[in-house]
Amino acid sequence: MNTHSHQWSEKETEEPGSEKIGERGSIGVFDSGVGGLSVWREITRELPNEDTLYVADQAHLPYGPRPLAEVRQFTEDITHFLLTQGAKLIVVACNTASGAALHYLRETFPEVPFVGMEPALKPAAEHTQTGIIGVIATPGTFQGDLFQQLAVRFANNVKIHIQPCPGLVTAVETGALDTLETRALLRQYLLPMLEANIDHLVLGCTHYPFLSQTIQEIIGPNITLIDPAPAVARQVRRVLAHHKLLVSSTRKPQHRFYTSGNPEQLATAARALVELNVTVKDWY
Ligand code: DGL
Repeated sequence: MNTHSHQWSEKETEEPGSEKIGERGSIGVFDSGVGGLSVWREITRELPNEDTLYVADQAHLPYGPRPLAEVRQFTEDITHFLLTQGAKLIVVACNTASGAALHYLRETFPEVPFVGMEPALKPAAEHTQTGIIGVIATPGTFQGDLFQQLAVRFANNVKIHIQPCPGLVTAVETGALDTLETRALLRQYLLPMLEANIDHLVLGCTHYPFLSQTIQEIIGPNITLIDPAPAVARQVRRVLAHHKLLVSSTRKPQHRFYTSGNPEQLATAARALVELNVTVKDWY
């Protein structure tokens, strides 16, 4: 597929007569699908006056099993698009894409501030009592250099139990957050970690926080789940402040949503996952 000629579909919150987006710059956020909404939600809590642009590359979902070079190309195309729409900072709200492309994006767009995701091994390593921590992520994230470097950095202090989780991204995309199939998949992935005596579980994919409740029920109350999204939102604030890009007004922000896939699917997911009502329109 030629991603350069890709058609994106837009959903936007209705703000009749409101200021055109991009005049002050927006926070661009992207993911392969709806997972990045778990990061978007924290960013809008942390920075309630900032405009945002969200891209879900659902035509290419899931990124996890794809070659890293292909994912890199998708992220470059999305970055071009977000910049034409007025992004002032870009959050790569996808661990797989950050592992595959964050260095590349920073080199390719040196004038753009980027904030990426990485599995939160640091807080898990600092707080573990058993000395054993678990990480769940896509196969692509575990293959990337970013994760390998992180694992080496913490390998002396803790034993890291990693588990690629094919199927979970699709479960979240289809709203199957608590079905029998999803529970069976989660048990298959998580029970060996319980046997290994982990006491912290790092959510290394931005889709997984939407499964937190089901995960916690399976692993029990004594294992701490770690979602890096709130820390990422604070980092977005710091980077915006550093570049003097924070908005100073307190007016109501605009949030725009785009997908390379089915607009209705994104609208439905946004309603279900982050209680956001969006209207749908297409653009080319
Ligand atoms: N949310 C993405 C991540 O954080 C999922 C990637 C995929 O599409 O497989 O890794």
